[in-house]
Amino acid sequence: MINLEALFKLSYGMYIVSSGDRKSGNAYISNTVFQVTSNPPQIATCCHKDNFTLDIIQQTQAFSVSVLHEKSSSDIFKRLGYKTGRDSKKFEGIQLKYGESGLPIVVDDAIASFECKVVQSIDLGSHILFIGQLIHSEVLENSMEPMTYSYYREVKKAAAPRNAPTYQAYTVSVEEPDTDEPKRYQCLACDYIYDDAEHDILFVDLPDDWECPDCGSPKSIFVEIQ
Ligand SMILES: Cc1cc2nc3c(=O)[nH]c(=O)nc-3n(C[C@H](O)[C@H](O)[C@H](O)COP(=O)(O)O)c2cc1C
Repeated sequence: MINLEALFKLSYGMYIVSSGDRKSGNAYISNTVFQVTSNPPQIATCCHKDNFTLDIIQQTQAFSVSVLHEKSSSDIFKRLGYKTGRDSKKFEGIQLKYGESGLPIVVDDAIASFECKVVQSIDLGSHILFIGQLIHSEVLENSMEPMTYSYYREVKKAAAPRNAPTYQAYTVSVEEPDTDEPKRYQCLACDYIYDDAEHDILFVDLPDDWECPDCGSPKSIFVEIQ
């Protein structure tokens, strides 16, 4: 028997994986970044084949990682984790620096950064696992705690979208309300708002496989708004 709940007991951090150069670059939110060897220091990241950033990593054979802290703004997740850079300039308004390798590195909300050159790419079907050898790393901030994936789900009450390797289709992040008061919920991918007051059925009572009528994202990535 496979109990999917058990997979949520695996621990991860929260990261921004970027690639490109000074002229063009892109980034996505990832919780699957981890050190795989210490000598030489190598870091792996698991990237969905539909991610625009994957194309850029394959072209440049390099990626950077920014480690996010617990107080990271919701905006950074919204901009980099639920929207693709194929049709927008994701770095606009985001504070970047360029590493020794020329890679863009997001410094907004970051407490450490890594630059890696890809030494192996493993095809996993839906995703490519990139193994990167560390070429530069820095601590940017010492006073903040790194955000974990569990903190993102339990405290920030958010969920990973379909492209995340740890996505679970029917895990709804919103809590049952104490009352039948109408509430409003927003799709993190396209900003569609489900206002309970405008529907016959409360958002929490929608079936788990209900999808955003505008962009088709799962119910699990809606968050309650005021
Ligand atoms: C919490 C969270 C974790 C995620 N983890 C991953 C991941 O490990 N790998 C991945 O490919 N996508 C992951 N994603 C999804 C990508 O960030 C998302 O598909 C992004 O829009 C891709 O952007 P791009 O097309 O501009 O590259 C995650 C998103 C969130 C919000």
